[in-house]
Amino acid sequence: MNAIAYQMDPLRGLAGLSTRTQEIPVAGPHQVVVKVRAASINRRDIMLMEGKYPVTMRPGVVPLVDGVGEVIAVGDGVTRARIGDRVTGTYFVGWVDGPQTQALGSQQYGANHDGWLAEYAVLQEESVVHVPAYLTDEEAASLTCAGLVAWAGLTKPVPPSPGATVLTVGTGPVGLFAIQHAKMLGARVISITSSPDKAERLRKLGADEVIDRKQTPDWENAVLDLTGGDGADHVIDAVGMITLPKSIAAAAYNSQVTLIGAFPAPAGAPTGDPLGGKYLALRRVAVGSRTDLEDMNRALAEHGVRPVIDRVFPFEQAAEAYRYFEEGDPFGKVVISLRS
Ligand SMILES: NC(=O)c1ccc[n+]([C@@H]2O[C@H](COP(=O)([O-])OP(=O)(O)OC[C@H]3O[C@@H](n4cnc5c(N)ncnc54)[C@H](OP(=O)(O)O)[C@@H]3O)[C@@H](O)[C@H]2O)c1
Repeated sequence: MNAIAYQMDPLRGLAGLSTRTQEIPVAGPHQVVVKVRAASINRRDIMLMEGKYPVTMRPGVVPLVDGVGEVIAVGDGVTRARIGDRVTGTYFVGWVDGPQTQALGSQQYGANHDGWLAEYAVLQEESVVHVPAYLTDEEAASLTCAGLVAWAGLTKPVPPSPGATVLTVGTGPVGLFAIQHAKMLGARVISITSSPDKAERLRKLGADEVIDRKQTPDWENAVLDLTGGDGADHVIDAVGMITLPKSIAAAAYNSQVTLIGAFPAPAGAPTGDPLGGKYLALRRVAVGSRTDLEDMNRALAEHGVRPVIDRVFPFEQAAEAYRYFEEGDPFGKVVISLRS
């Protein structure tokens, strides 16, 4: 019996999203076939669709890198998964551990390898990651991109000490996961957002202090005030070059500023010393390795933390899910469910 897979032709907006029939895949050597239960959208899926992502989308690729499902077939030589296992996949096809390289970074599910928006997905065995049993399928389909980059960004190279101040900038899924991870690690969290409604929800999620960037445009000074003039010990900037100068201004000497967001600088933004004269470590990260994902899943399970889900759409309404992601200002992950 034939199944359905979505495919994407980039540079055509949502007109590039269509369906095709999919034969149930056969697992090749060191591959597993997964019956997909849920998948979720990330900002990178929009960037890929628009041709604004560093890796080019292969026309006709099955989109989405976040997903979860049940293993239904394993190929010759597979030892990392068994039929019946509930698994997700890595972001990068072959990045298992150690430092990332350009070559490892260039091979990605949902970009140049078929992803998760289909009834069946095929993973290389080395990409397979088991998901914590307590999470629903929708929650488990939310970990690979936003969850992991927030984890790797916060914990590497040096995790925050208990009681350290973590500043989160941006409240997309990356920013929300960063708050949850920072609280798991015992940090004090200051979060920047854009509305009283979001501020309230951030406090419920665990943020100790929230600053509304619309009410307080000089929020970097407010962070300095809240930290006795010192600044934050760790900064997760989940917006991009728009906010980076303020993130650095709000950071302490010897702090760790991690740039995750990819929103570009506004036209005509001043250039100059990007570190604002401070002695600190600034780095840009690209998601994380399989080992990082496994570490994060163990930490989530230890603390029983659940990803924030904004809305779940049925598989047949994938285009509506993309539209809602782009226009709805969601608070949490936008998930597509394949369970009828
Ligand atoms: N490097 C990586 O590996 C990696 C992985 C995942 C995502 N990313 C990038 O990280 C960024 C965040 O992704 P996401 O999935 O969390 O969510 P997202 O949907 O891109 O949301 C970003 C959030 O940033 C805030 N924001 C937007 N424009 C802003 C502006 N002009 N000034 C200040 N804040 C602004 C908004 O929060 P408020 O309304 O609360 O201010 C918004 O909810 C994206 O650029 C994405 O491409 C990078």
